[in-house]
Parts: sequence; structure tokens; C-alpha cells
Amino acid sequence: MANTIYGMVQLLLIHFVVVQGCPRPCSCNATIVTCRNDKELRYIPKLPDAATGLIFSGNYLPFIERHTMSNLTSLKLTVLVLRYNYIRNISKDALSELKFLEKIDLTGNKNLTIQQVADTLRGIHSAYLHTVIINSFYWRKDLSIIYQAISVPQFKIKTLIYEGNTLQILNFTSLNRHLPELEHLSVKFNSIQIFITDHALSLKRLYLDYNYIELKENMFGTHNDCFFPNLEILQMKSNFLIYFENRFSCLDNLHTLKIGRNPVKRILNNTFYNLTSLRTLSISNTGGRLYKIESLAFKSDTIQSLNFSANYFPFISESAERFYFNPDEIFNHLPKLEVLDLSENKFNVTNDVLFRMLIPLKNLQHLTIRHCALTTIPKNLIFRLEKLGYLDLSQNHIKTWKGETVFKNVSSIEILRLDMNYITVFKESLFPAVLRRNLRSIYLANNPFSCTCKLLWLRKWIEEKSEIFKQYPEHYICSTPIELHGSLLKRYFPSERECESINELLIAFTVLSIIGICVVMLASLVYKGRWHIRHAIYLFHIRRKGYENMDDVSNFLYSGFVVYCEEDREWVKNKFVKMVEINDRKLCIHHRDFDGGKLIIDNIANGIARSKKVILILSRAMIKSDWCLFEMRLAHKKFIKRADSLLMIMLETVSPDDMPKSLHTLLTISTYIRWSSDLVAEEEFWKKVRRAIK
Ligand SMILES: *[C@@H]1O[C@H](CO)[C@@H](O)[C@H](O)[C@H]1NC(C)=O
Ligand SMILES: *[C@@H]1O[C@H](CO)[C@@H](O)[C@H](O)[C@H]1NC(C)=O
Ligand SMILES: *[C@@H]1O[C@H](CO)[C@@H](O)[C@H](O)[C@H]1NC(C)=O
Ligand SMILES: *[C@@H]1O[C@H](CO)[C@@H](O)[C@H](O)[C@H]1NC(C)=O
Ligand SMILES: *[C@@H]1O[C@H](CO)[C@@H](O)[C@H](O)[C@H]1NC(C)=O
Ligand SMILES: *[C@@H]1O[C@H](CO)[C@@H](O)[C@H](O)[C@H]1NC(C)=O
Ligand SMILES: *[C@@H]1O[C@H](CO)[C@@H](O)[C@H](O)[C@H]1NC(C)=O
Ligand SMILES: *[C@@H]1O[C@H](CO)[C@@H](O)[C@H](O)[C@H]1NC(C)=O
Ligand SMILES: *[C@@H]1O[C@H](CO)[C@@H](O)[C@H](O)[C@H]1NC(C)=O
Ligand SMILES: *[C@@H]1O[C@H](CO)[C@@H](O)[C@H](O)[C@H]1NC(C)=O
Repeated sequence: MANTIYGMVQLLLIHFVVVQGCPRPCSCNATIVTCRNDKELRYIPKLPDAATGLIFSGNYLPFIERHTMSNLTSLKLTVLVLRYNYIRNISKDALSELKFLEKIDLTGNKNLTIQQVADTLRGIHSAYLHTVIINSFYWRKDLSIIYQAISVPQFKIKTLIYEGNTLQILNFTSLNRHLPELEHLSVKFNSIQIFITDHALSLKRLYLDYNYIELKENMFGTHNDCFFPNLEILQMKSNFLIYFENRFSCLDNLHTLKIGRNPVKRILNNTFYNLTSLRTLSISNTGGRLYKIESLAFKSDTIQSLNFSANYFPFISESAERFYFNPDEIFNHLPKLEVLDLSENKFNVTNDVLFRMLIPLKNLQHLTIRHCALTTIPKNLIFRLEKLGYLDLSQNHIKTWKGETVFKNVSSIEILRLDMNYITVFKESLFPAVLRRNLRSIYLANNPFSCTCKLLWLRKWIEEKSEIFKQYPEHYICSTPIELHGSLLKRYFPSERECESINELLIAFTVLSIIGICVVMLASLVYKGRWHIRHAIYLFHIRRKGYENMDDVSNFLYSGFVVYCEEDREWVKNKFVKMVEINDRKLCIHHRDFDGGKLIIDNIANGIARSKKVILILSRAMIKSDWCLFEMRLAHKKFIKRADSLLMIMLETVSPDDMPKSLHTLLTISTYIRWSSDLVAEEEFWKKVRRAIK
């Protein structure tokens, strides 16, 4: 009993679902039912009463006849899409009961012949049919049969789309005869080589992309007989357009022209000037064949948007060999230009070419230069483009820019894209306050963020206005320091205190190290020049104290002041003093005669002052010792005043290369006595010495 009731409830539920709700494998919104990609679905289910459209695609419906559509006949169905349903055979009257049909799409049922489709279309008895879509068949022949089939008086076909076939001919004579009211024709992705031109007076949109069409003169009409007078949009991407001068005229209502992906070689003066309604022009992806853009190439009083991307044109310098363009003129004849895309061309931001190209564009609002290996943002440019609201410089190699001269007083920019660049350090000065205040969107994603305290201001900005940061947080990733590499910028939010203390530490460290460096430098200077300094102090002393008159011979206490080195002390003490201090000769020897209470400098000065002669004991050790050289210099000073007062004794042979220059000079201008331990020679030596020190 319970089971039966349960069963009945279930039945009721199913009924309810089928009639009121959405049929099982399908999905529905208010009016459209979509049944997609279910090979098990082999019939057209019952739809909700309100349904006006059925998208039935990728299912399995090999045979279609009138009965197949019986679940649709009670509806006010206007749109029927039967794409890729493996239809093998469709009867002439299959769609005859759909009295409200406006749009039929039979795309991708490859086994249907032109004739079968023509017959089925002719069998539609709706007075409202205006759109026919028959893409992706492998038809090669002319479609006149189909044009004829849908030219029956009750239809007013305005849109015909047959993309992705292999048709070779587009015959406007035939189209014009059968479908004079056609407004929209798309024949993309065919193999059309033969374009038979004729009048298409109602045609507004023509899509010819991806065919083999060449642009012939008079293709769009002759001077007083225009074939497409109402054409508004013409797309001819990827065809055989090589030259197009003198071709674009007679299209007085054309506002959009897209002719990219063609092997264009040159753009001559006034190419688009006869298109008096043209607003959008796109010439991109020309494959690097373009070598010449004449000065008036883009001359137009109407163009508002120019897409010149992916042409790899070398806007590098004026006279790049074999390429021609004039930076001052190229965009100088586009008074209405608002949108410009120059992505994927070649620039050199270190010269002024880009600057000169863009500076005439006073109305520019939207500038895109992506993927051009720009290393910086040209300075003094952006703020002159006073209406610029959108700037896209993503995918370049920008590391930094001069914040002051780039975004100086720029308040117009609302959207700024700098994602995918090489910016590591985001200094606050790069984004002046005026700029920041007016930004609505900013893209900084995929830059190698250096997550240090310098970023604190940026983190605060993001925190404050996170809604303007696009692609945040997932694409804002720290690159340095190493310990943060790969982590989200969002996770890096140092407190102000942390950064301040780091700052203070940094400042303290810097100041200390600067002081340290100064001290070390000073010390080493002092150390290096210590004998010069002593000498200077000595001279100062002399001047102040006014030592005894050195020239007064009667004042001499010693016969000689001996300048020697510690290393030679034994020799001086044991030999020299003993052999010389006879007959009243008295030597001043600092280890013996210096006054312990006085400054050593004073001692030396006094010693020299009170000695008749200065005796210089030259040895290798002497030359190496700064102290000895200092004494020698003092002696030298005295020598300058009394030429005969110097006696030099060469204890060892010293190479002139090892001597200070001053000593070498002394040696060359005065005589010296060479010591020798040879017995005979020694006797001679002492005689000479004693003679010298009388
Ligand atoms: C219903 O779906 C169709 C296609 O899936 C879509 O084009 C249409 O905008 C949708 N309508 C509403 C009201 O959501
Ligand atoms: C109509 O729909 C019902 C339920 O969705 C289904 O069972 C039936 O087979 C359909 N009729 C046709 C002719 O496909
Ligand atoms: C298609 O179906 C009709 C009848 O419905 C039949 O006469 C015709 O032979 C079929 N054609 C093919 C190619 O199967
Ligand atoms: C569709 O056509 C192809 C070749 O044109 C043929 O091999 C295939 O058997 C056909 N499929 C059906 C279901 O008729
Ligand atoms: C184009 O169509 C016209 C009218 O249908 C016909 O006379 C002409 O032969 C066609 N041209 C070609 C090349 O098919
Ligand atoms: C512009 O049109 C005039 C006449 O309509 C024609 O003489 C001239 O050659 C055309 N110029 C270009 C560049 O197409
Ligand atoms: C194109 O226009 C420029 C600027 O008026 C002019 O110097 C140049 O000679 C023109 N080129 C041709 C081929 O007439
Ligand atoms: C310019 O054209 C390219 C490719 O055709 C397209 O990706 C780009 O969005 C266009 N630029 C603008 C500003 O519309
Ligand atoms: C870019 O311009 C600068 C300055 O005019 C020049 O020195 C440099 O060689 C140019 N670089 C290239 C790649 O042309
Ligand atoms: C920005 O500054 C330049 C000169 O420094 C000035 O010519 C320009 O009018 C200023 N623009 C705005 C929007 O203030």
C-alpha cells in the first residue's frame, strides 16, 4: 500500500518535472533550454511551456523528420540550434511545423548535402526566419541552391553565416539576386579565392576572415557606383592583402575595418582617407613584412581607434635601414584618435622616437604597448597626453622609471597595467599621490616583488583600497629576500614598528660605519704621514721658540750628530764612537745623549742644532725605517743651510731603487765614505772619517 502511494507520488513528481521543469539531461534558464553533449539523448524532449529557444547540440539525432519535432510544435519556439547531432538524413518537412522560427543553426552535421539542407530550409513555414547558420560542413560548391531556397518571399533573411566550409567562390551576383535584404554575411574560414563583386545594398556587416581573397581595385565599387554603400563593418583578417592603396573607397558608411594577419608590405599616403566614416582600424599581425609607412598613411579625420599590434615594426630610429617611417608624422594626422595599440613592435626608449610618435595625439585616452621589451616608461610624455585614462604597459622589461617626470601631475589615468614586468622595488615616489588618488584599477601582478620594508607603503595602499588591485593577491608574489621567495605579498605585512626599528638600526649602522670608515681613513693618513707631521710640528716649534742661532759656530756642543738606526746601534756604540771620539771630538748619540725629560723631537732638534755636522749612517735598515728617515730629513734641512755639514757613511751597499728620492738626491750631490771591514781599508776609513769631523 505504502509502496503504491510512494510510486504514485514519484510518478506525479516526474510528470511535474517533465511538464513544468527542465527535462532531465538539459539545463534551462527563463526561456532557453540547453541540452548538450549527451550521446544517449536521442530524441527531443518536452520543454517548459515558456521555452522559446532550444540549444540541442552534441547529441545523437541521425534521422530527423516532422515527427522528431513533435515535442516542439506546441511552443512558441524562435531559436533552434541543432549543432553536431550526426544528422544523416533530414526530411524536407522536418521543420515545417515550427511556425515562429527566427533562427536555425544546423552547424556541423557533416553528412548532410547542400541539397538536403536547402530542401529542409525551404520547408520551414515560419514568416519570421531571419538567421541561418550552416557552419562546418565540407561543402566546396557554390551555395546558390541554398540562397535560392531561403529566398522564398515569406522569409526576410538578414543574417547568413557559413563559416568553416571549404567554399572557393563568393558570388555577390547570386547573393544579390536571391537575398537582397541580407545585412550580415560571415564566410570566415573557407577557401574563397574568387570574389565576384556586385551590389549588396543592404549589407552592413561582412566577415571574410581566413580566406584567400586579394584586394582588387574597384572591388567595392567604382567612383559613381558603390556596391556596398551601407557596409559598416568589414573584416578581412588573414587573406591575401598585400597592397591596399587606392582600394578602400566607396565604403562611405564603414566604421570598422579589420585587415590584420595579411602580408602587408607598405602603407602609402591617404590609404584610408576616403573612408569617411571609419572609426576603428586594425592592422595587426602582419608578420613582420611591413617595411614602409608613409607620413600620411594613417591620415584620417575620423579614426578613433587604431590597432597596430604585433607587426614587429622597428620604431627604433628614424633611419633603420630598409625600413621607413617618420616619427613626427606617423600619428600626426589622426586628430580624433583615442585608442592606440602598439603592442609587439620594436622600440628604443633611450631615444626620443616613441615620444615624438605619441606627442601629437592630444586626444589619446587608451594606450597599449605590451610586450615590447620596454625597459622604462618614457619620461615627460604621459602627463602631456592629458586625456589618457588607460595605460597598459604589461609584459615589458620595465624595472623602474622616473616617478617625477613620468607621472608628475597625471590625474587622468584610471586604469594602469604594469603587470609582468621586472619591477622589484616599488618606491612610493614612482606613484605620485595625484596618480594614486584617481586610479580605479591597477595591475602590478607578476612582478618580482622585493618584500622589504620599502614596500610598507604599498602594503598599506593595498590594504586601504584592495578593490583597485587587480589579480590580487594570487599573482603578487615575493621574489626576494630569499627566505620569502615564492610567498604571497599578502602574507608580508611588517608592522610599522618593525620597519621603524629596522630603519633606526639601519640609520645607526650607517652612521656608525661612516664614522668608522672616516676614523680608519684618518688614522691611516696620519700613520702614513706621521713623519711629515712631526716635521711640521718641529718646524712650528722652531718658529715659536726660536732656537739658538744654528750658524753660530761657538755654540756647538758636539762635533757631530749621528743619525743611525736601531739595527746599527751596536756598530755605532762599539766601533764608531770608540774610533771617532778622540781628540776632543764629541758625538751626539741619541741613546746616550738625549735628555729624558724632553720631547724626542726637541732632543733631535737640539742635538742637530748643537752639532757641527750631521753624520748619516746609511744602511738597508735605515732606509726601511721611517723614524730614521725623519731624522734624516731634519738633518737635510740643516744641510741646506750649511752645505758642508753633512757626512754620509755608507755602511752597506744600498741600491738607489730602494732609497727615497730625497736621499738619492743627497747621495748624488754630496760625498760619502764607504765602510769596509777589510783591515787595510778600515784604517783608511777611520782616517777619512776623523778628517771629516775635525
Ligand atoms: C539563457 O541561456 C542562454 C544560452 O545559454 C543565454 O544566451 C541567455 O542570456 C540566458 N538568459 C538568461 C535570462 O539568463
Ligand atoms: C517527447 O518527450 C517525451 C518526454 O520528454 C519523450 O518521451 C518522447 O519520446 C518525445 N517525443 C519524441 C517524438 O521524441
Ligand atoms: C532519407 O529519408 C528519406 C525518407 O525519409 C528516404 O527516402 C531517403 O532515401 C533517405 N536518404 C538517405 C540518404 O538516407
Ligand atoms: C558520413 O560521411 C562519411 C564520409 O562522408 C562516411 O564515412 C560516414 O559513414 C558517414 N556517416 C554516416 C553516419 O552516414
Ligand atoms: C555568380 O552568380 C550569377 C548569378 O547566379 C551567375 O550567373 C554567375 O555565373 C555566377 N558566377 C560564378 C563564377 O559562379
Ligand atoms: C579617393 O577617392 C577619389 C574619388 O572618389 C579617388 O580619385 C582617389 O583615388 C581615392 N583615393 C584613395 C587613396 O583611394
Ligand atoms: C607622402 O606624404 C608625405 C608628406 O606629405 C610626402 O613627403 C611624401 O612625398 C608622400 N609620398 C608620396 C609617395 O607621395
Ligand atoms: C588589438 O588587436 C589584438 C589582436 O588582434 C588584440 O588582442 C588586442 O586586444 C587589440 N587591442 C585593442 C586595444 O583592442
Ligand atoms: C637606442 O637609442 C640610443 C640613443 O639614441 C642608442 O645609443 C642605442 O644604440 C639605441 N639602441 C638600439 C638597440 O638601437
Ligand atoms: C602638468 O605639468 C605640466 C608642466 O609641468 C603642465 O604643462 C601641465 O599642464 C600639467 N598638467 C596638469 C594636468 O596639471
